[in-house]
Amino acid sequence: MTTAPHLTATQNLTAVAHQVGARDRHARYGHAGAVIWLTGLSAAGKSTLAMGLEAALLERGYACYTLDGDNIRHGLNANLGFSQADRTENIRRVGEVAALFADAGLICITSFISPYRADRAQARAAAQRTGFHEIYIAADLAACEARDPKGLYRKARAGELKEFTGIDAPYEVPDAPELILTTGRETVQASLTGLLNYVTDRLPLRR
Ligand code: ADX
Repeated sequence: MTTAPHLTATQNLTAVAHQVGARDRHARYGHAGAVIWLTGLSAAGKSTLAMGLEAALLERGYACYTLDGDNIRHGLNANLGFSQADRTENIRRVGEVAALFADAGLICITSFISPYRADRAQARAAAQRTGFHEIYIAADLAACEARDPKGLYRKARAGELKEFTGIDAPYEVPDAPELILTTGRETVQASLTGLLNYVTDRLPLRR
């Protein structure tokens, strides 16, 4: 069997143990590390909620950081486009990075369309040692297209932008997300409150 080029580096390596573990990091930060994975269509509200959650958690004393699709695609994933293979690689890398953040003891919030169930399952598997919470940002296509903050739906409908999620590329709705936020029907503040309550209930801060 041939190995994919980007996975060949797993040969001739020996894992190195850390001197500190999850318990030490938990004691240091006052909470466990975890991945809060936001998924949904473009313009569903993922970035707004991710950045709002990050600010609210930081204000309460949590150590956290948001990885956002448009930002990560300017740097780490600048060599990737929007084919199925590139999206899978985008999410594979982000899943691994998010798992590292969680392993470091932080709450890592991710904001990516992440349209494929299998890719999200792989990200969940990468973070299984800490915890992975899949949050479906559920605004239907009509609502997202009516918002169209970046004008991308208009371009996609005009045929100027190919493989746009929801138009000519698929979005696979989560089967069993830990939380669903119906951003198509409620205010940003209501969704943010629901998300913040969910996170602070499951990952309480104790100093
Ligand atoms: S993902 O599908 O690989 O998870 P990601 O969340 O990183 O996507 O990036 C989505 C962002 O890229 C959108 O918010 C939008 O601004 C931009 N974008 C540009 N082209 C496309 C496209 N063809 N499909 C979806 N988003 C696109």
